[in-house]
Amino acid sequence: MKLLITGGAGFIGSNFARYWTTQHPEDTVVILDKLTYAGNLQNIADIATRVTFVQGDICDTETVRQAMSGCSTVVHFAAESHVDRSIANPDVFIQTNVLGTHTLLRVARELDIARFHHVSTDEVLGQLPLETNERWDENSPYNPRSPYSASKAASDHLVRAYHTTYGLPITISNCANNYGPYLYPEKLLSLAITNLLEGKKVPIYGAGDQVREWLYVEDHCRGIEAILQKGTAGETYFIGPGEQRVTNLELIQKVLGMMGKNENSLEFVADRPGHDQRYALSIAKIERELGWHPTVALDDGLQRMIDWYSTNDIWWKPIKSGDYKKYYAQQYGTRG
Ligand SMILES: NC(=O)c1ccc[n+]([C@@H]2O[C@H](COP(=O)([O-])OP(=O)(O)OC[C@H]3O[C@@H](n4cnc5c(N)ncnc54)[C@H](O)[C@@H]3O)[C@@H](O)[C@H]2O)c1
Repeated sequence: MKLLITGGAGFIGSNFARYWTTQHPEDTVVILDKLTYAGNLQNIADIATRVTFVQGDICDTETVRQAMSGCSTVVHFAAESHVDRSIANPDVFIQTNVLGTHTLLRVARELDIARFHHVSTDEVLGQLPLETNERWDENSPYNPRSPYSASKAASDHLVRAYHTTYGLPITISNCANNYGPYLYPEKLLSLAITNLLEGKKVPIYGAGDQVREWLYVEDHCRGIEAILQKGTAGETYFIGPGEQRVTNLELIQKVLGMMGKNENSLEFVADRPGHDQRYALSIAKIERELGWHPTVALDDGLQRMIDWYSTNDIWWKPIKSGDYKKYYAQQYGTRG
């Protein structure tokens, strides 16, 4: 099988490319990635000989046509993915996440792709109240609240519309927050771990009482593999850790404990506008229909992630200098 992975130089896409080429060495893998600030060839340096890398924009039809040519399967990760950046500059989110996805769909239809898998997020569903134990399932209504989640919601709708209207064999996965190696150090957990390794404080939005679900990235990769192998075209599957309930503050307190630090290393900063309170996914469908289950417990995954960042400062230190420093100063003040 020849597989196109868009966004394969980003966090999850690179983990997926590594996972796929390890599990399915007989397959041919092409990665299409624009290499925005979030894309990094270092993320795939160790698998460079196992993949063909194409630098290009998913909004460009000819580039997409060339990269997709001869492929039977597309796994679409490429996106602008950071909520804070979408609040500061929404335009590029609409461009890449909506128009870019549409370009891929158009070409996938033209080339008769056998499976187009779209990787999406739980954030399209909006937020749940903190005080309930309710969980979303695949039939819950969309209610995106940030430019990022609205652009991802739009892309999900387009992908479904291409199935309904043109019969394109699509599948969609909406996943909880991922964590693990190669997570860009602007996201909560990698920011916390790298700041602590540098002896700096960890910024916490508001009171840190927001509830997220955390899935170790390799479990996400296995979930997508299960959907590609056993999922039904036209269907959406939720992927997450299942019964987990942890506030952002509790999560960072775990990390502090594991890294031998205390709460003096925390710094509470003004909350993000429209910060969603709680996300919670029911994973009953993928467990029941595809036999997928999460395998990495939160404490184990956090320890693996801390170990990886502790031994890979050669990867994250250059990222935390340069342009990223300017972004950090804008976002959290001048403490980066
Ligand atoms: N990170 C999470 O916790 C999470 C959770 C659920 C779903 N997702 C989804 O998974 C996907 C991957 O997320 P991630 O965290 O790995 O993101 P990321 O920001 O780390 O990587 C995105 C990649 O896409 C590339 N890219 C951006 N714009 C492009 C364009 N116009 N053309 C080609 N390539 C482009 C970037 O260079 C980068 O390599 C996204 O679609 C995101 O919405 C992420």
